[in-house]
Amino acid sequence: MRVVIIGATGHVGGYLVPRLVGAGHEVVGVSRGISDPYRADASWDHVERISLDREQGDADGTFAGRIADLEADVVIDMVCFTRDSAAQLVEALRGRVDHLISCGTIWTHGHAAEVPVGEGEARQPTDTYGIGKLQIEDLLLAESARPGGLPSTVLHPGHITGPGWHMINPAGNLDPDVWHRLAVGEELLLPNFGLETVHHVHADDVAQSFQLALENRAAAVGEGFHVVSERAITLRGFAESVAGWFGRTANIRFVPFEEFASATDPRHAAATREHISRSPSMSIDKARRSLGYTPSYTTLRAAAEALRWLAEHGEVDLAGAEFHGA
Ligand SMILES: NC(=O)c1ccc[n+]([C@@H]2O[C@H](COP(=O)([O-])OP(=O)(O)OC[C@H]3O[C@@H](n4cnc5c(N)ncnc54)[C@H](OP(=O)(O)O)[C@@H]3O)[C@@H](O)[C@H]2O)c1
Repeated sequence: MRVVIIGATGHVGGYLVPRLVGAGHEVVGVSRGISDPYRADASWDHVERISLDREQGDADGTFAGRIADLEADVVIDMVCFTRDSAAQLVEALRGRVDHLISCGTIWTHGHAAEVPVGEGEARQPTDTYGIGKLQIEDLLLAESARPGGLPSTVLHPGHITGPGWHMINPAGNLDPDVWHRLAVGEELLLPNFGLETVHHVHADDVAQSFQLALENRAAAVGEGFHVVSERAITLRGFAESVAGWFGRTANIRFVPFEEFASATDPRHAAATREHISRSPSMSIDKARRSLGYTPSYTTLRAAAEALRWLAEHGEVDLAGAEFHGA
């Protein structure tokens, strides 16, 4: 198939492009051309690269038409954030493309009620990002159900993790000092009882889900799927496991969230609140059943691989602690 990927050089594209090229698909990668692919790979030699700025092209109404003119069988949209942007793409692709696969987020759910959360649960996103992604999904799945509509699928990753960038840590934020504290046995503050959850997914497992949706079109069209690791993890369980990677017992002090927030850099405290106020724990049963999705990474394996990369590239200071990994 001829596959256009909008946002091809990002975290997920770094794994998706080699997968699709390796499977014999003809890949066209669209981006502004500002960033290099996250992962260098020989498969990029076989990719047609197109430089387009979606924001600018959406504003002047040219972006969607340029994508349609690429004459793809399948369009994978990694970077759509508003209903208007999705609507422009749908209008241009209808009747010209066999399948649109769009990247959503588990943030469309807002806070959880019963866990693990299924795709059919009531959704109450709490921020502009989650609301926008839910509006996109509603638009695409309604379009898909319409006679003559554009067949579409939406895939919802959790916290995307992998070598090359910082990932959500056991305090539910991106503070590199959390890894340091656990590695050297310093005290780590955790909010409440540390039993709120985060739910990661390795970028290659997200890529797997896009490849499966593309290659199992009949099962994927008209559907949304969660794409996360097998199971979510509690902050406490995460912290204890990470300390164990360094042969230590985690030195955790549990404090009420307000005390945690006042002792933490406001950016990191806000990120923790963002994560634990939702405490995602998503079900992958539907993706497993319909698409054959089988995550290769647990949350801990994904985090260990990413942490090893951060340490090797000087992005975290583990003070020379011996790292045994997950
Ligand atoms: N990060 C997470 O944990 C997480 C969790 C759930 C869902 N998601 C979803 O994952 C998707 C992002 O995937 P990702 O993490 O693989 O992407 P990413 O690493 O953020 O990379 C973004 C890609 O899009 C390109 N891009 C950015 N702005 C662009 C523009 N204006 N026009 C054209 N191309 C543009 C970038 O290349 P250039 O810079 O060269 O243009 C790059 O190829 C989003 O839909 C996000 O909502 C992320």
